[in-house]
This record gives sequence, structure tokens and C-alpha cells, in this order.
Amino acid sequence: MSEQNQSIHGQWSSRLAFILAVSGSAVGLGNIWKFPYITGVNGGGAFVLVYLVCILAIGLPILMSEIMLGRLGHKNPIATMKILGKRESGTTKWSVIGILGVFTGSLILSYYSVVAGWAMNYVLLSVQGSLASVDSDSAGQLFGGMVSNPINVFFWHSLFMLLTVFIVAKGLISGIEKSIRILMPLLIFLLLVLLVFSVINGEALAALRFLFSFNLDALTGDGFLVALGHAFFTLSLGMGAVMAYGAYLPKNFSLSKTAGAIVFFDTAIALVAGIVIFSVVFANDLDPTQGPGLIFQTLPIAFSSLPLTSVVAFLFFILLVAAAWTSSISLIEPGVAWLIEDFGFSRKTSTYALGGLIWLLGLLSVFSFNHLADFTFWQGTWFDNFDFLTANLLLPFGGLLITVFAGYILSPSISEEEIDLGGKLGYRIWLFLSRYIAPAGIIIIFLDGLGVL
Ligand code: PHE
Repeated sequence: MSEQNQSIHGQWSSRLAFILAVSGSAVGLGNIWKFPYITGVNGGGAFVLVYLVCILAIGLPILMSEIMLGRLGHKNPIATMKILGKRESGTTKWSVIGILGVFTGSLILSYYSVVAGWAMNYVLLSVQGSLASVDSDSAGQLFGGMVSNPINVFFWHSLFMLLTVFIVAKGLISGIEKSIRILMPLLIFLLLVLLVFSVINGEALAALRFLFSFNLDALTGDGFLVALGHAFFTLSLGMGAVMAYGAYLPKNFSLSKTAGAIVFFDTAIALVAGIVIFSVVFANDLDPTQGPGLIFQTLPIAFSSLPLTSVVAFLFFILLVAAAWTSSISLIEPGVAWLIEDFGFSRKTSTYALGGLIWLLGLLSVFSFNHLADFTFWQGTWFDNFDFLTANLLLPFGGLLITVFAGYILSPSISEEEIDLGGKLGYRIWLFLSRYIAPAGIIIIFLDGLGVL
């Protein structure tokens, strides 16, 4: 291993700072935009159950492994896996985990930025007062009008990419730590306000029934794959984001407590967002299966019946943008750290070069809702394909390689020291999940989802 025991980019100032940073990466559009809409499309309860099982049995052990590997390597994910692979098995081929991760992160950011752009556009709409009194018809028209205007989506996508590279170019720790400390608590507060609203005004019981009545027959093989993929997507796993952040984590912080807190936090936010959104959906006879536009059409209706409509809408979408922002930073950071460490470019050059490429690629998603809306193949539009390929295939595949490395290649004397799950039993549970349950779960769901089983 390298002699260095600290990353050249610095270290988190406290355990809380690390938890906030990884939570900032984890909590994003995945929780508030994607979770409700894929739950709607996949029929509710059974999907949620599979998702929760995937989070606990596959996501949590892999989250620990990713933090552990990052902390052992102290470098960008490509270099970290090269160093650890060489030391543990005499081959540098494990760096493929990092290479795949940089590729996957870039693909995700290219369409993530487009959706974050929609949220930015809604901030403006709320300032203009357009969200002050919407009903189910006008909410649909507002969303449709927005995405079908290519110049509009192009503009917001570009602005969001600029925001992202701006922070990353400044340096990770000062940029991220500061913003997340304020934004996260605010986001939670607003979600709780909306939760109270939805219990009083919406159909909260119907929402709970939809989310938690488990009828496994309703779920297709594809649904299993989407649930697995979303467990990775929402925890930012399988592409090195957490590994990159783990590299900045001091040795004396407890890994399992940290991972547990992040999983709890991320899952709670998704479930609360789900309750809020489906309460509104059922109270207004909206279609739960309408897809990516779901929150943009339901939330304005919820806001309309609150006092200070425009202010609440404004705050909410600002916070959604902020949550997306702290995630987008972590999507590009592994690639940037790699360009800096392995090629010697400056942080600025690395960030703007990679950011520019991702921005360009994002144009395919920008046009997926207008000019290229009819150009469909495999899963649908370019946007649909990027989403399916990355979330449902590339992230779980990256996770599979990570768990195989952590469970089989890394010597147990090292992992036992790192995985501080409260004694031998805790470690054995982690090892069992990492060696058998996580790999088997991913492979079976892959085969099932791709129609082989
Ligand atoms: N976890 C983020 C979200 O839920 C998305 C993300 C995926 C971020 C992968 C980093 C890596 O919005």
C-alpha cells in the first residue's frame, strides 16, 4: 500500500461531516423524485418491500465495504483498487471497478442534471407565482410545457452543470461540508411540514396502504431489477462515490455506525417523500403510474392548499435543487480525483474538462422530451436508456465486483479490523452478507430481470 495514510485532498473535519457528506450524496433526486415514481410504476407495496430488503441485505454491507476500501486506499477509486488489488492478489485488474465507476457516474450525471434542471425551473415558476393555484390539469400542462421546450431544458441543464463544476473546482471539503450542514436539516424540516400537511389534507391512509401492502404477485422480474438498482442508486453505491469520500475519512471513525446512520437517514427520507406524494396522488385522483413527471405534478397541487403557497413551493424546490447538487458533486468527484492524481492536471482543468463532456452527453437527455422524444430503442428514449443502463445494470454490477473483492480477495485480518460491527458475530454477519447474500442476490435478480430465469 502507499506510504501515505491521508488523501492529498484533505480529510473530513469530523465524523458528522463525513456522515453529512455521504448523506448529501445519497439523499437527492433518487429519494424525492425517483423513489415515488418508480414505486408508482411498479405497483407499490411489493416493490417497496423488495427495495427495503435489498437496502439491508445488499446495500448496507456494500456501503461498509466501499467506505472501507476508500479508507484503506486513500486515493481515487481507480488508484485505490489498483493499489489494493496489487497488494491483495498481485493484479492491478481490480482497478476496473474504479474505471467502470467513473464511466457510470458520468452517465448518471448527464441525465441527473437534466432532472435537477427541471427542479430549478420550478424554483423560477414559484417566484413568478405560476405554482400559486394549480389543479391536476394545469399541473400536467405546466410540466408538459416545460419539458417539451428544448431551449428551456437546455438552459437549466447547463446552469445546473455549471453549479456542480463550480463547487467541485473549488475543492471538495470546504465546498461540500459548509453547504450540507445547512441544507440537510432544512430539507428534512420542510419534508416534515409536508408530511403533516399530507396527513391532514391528503389521503395518508391510502398512501400507507399503497406503500406497505405487500402483494408479491404484483411484481415482475423487471420490478425486482428496478428495486435492486434503486437500492444502489439511492445509496450512491457501485460507482466509487462513497469510496472516493471514504478516502478522506480518518482512521478512528466507526465505520458501521456511520454506514447505519446513512442508510437510516436515506431510507427515512424516501419513505416520507413517498407518503407525502401518494397522499396527494390519491386525494386528487392522479395517476400513480405516470412516470418521471410525478412529483412535478403532485407537489404543486399539495402546495396550492397550503398557506403561503409560493413561498413553500419556492423553498421546497430550492432544497430539492440543493439535495441534487450535493449528489451531483459526488457523481463527478471520482473522475476528477482520478484526473488530478493520475494525470497531474489541476483540479480546475480536470473539473471543467470532465464537466464539459458530461454536459455534452446530457444533451441527449435534454432532447429526449422534445426533439428526440420519438427516437426510442431498447428501454425507450435516450433518457430512459441512460437511467436503466446505469441504475439497474452498471451500479449493481459495480457493487458485485466490490463485494467480491471485499469478501473474498481482501484478507480477513484487514476487514475484521475495519468492520467494527460489535465483535466477532457482527463481523461474521457482514462477511456472510458480503460473500454469499449480496453476490447471489445481485446475480439472481440480474438473471431474473433479464428474462433468463
Ligand atoms: N444517491 C443519489 C440520489 O439518490 C444519486 C447518486 C447515485 C449519487 C450514484 C451518486 C452516485 O439522488
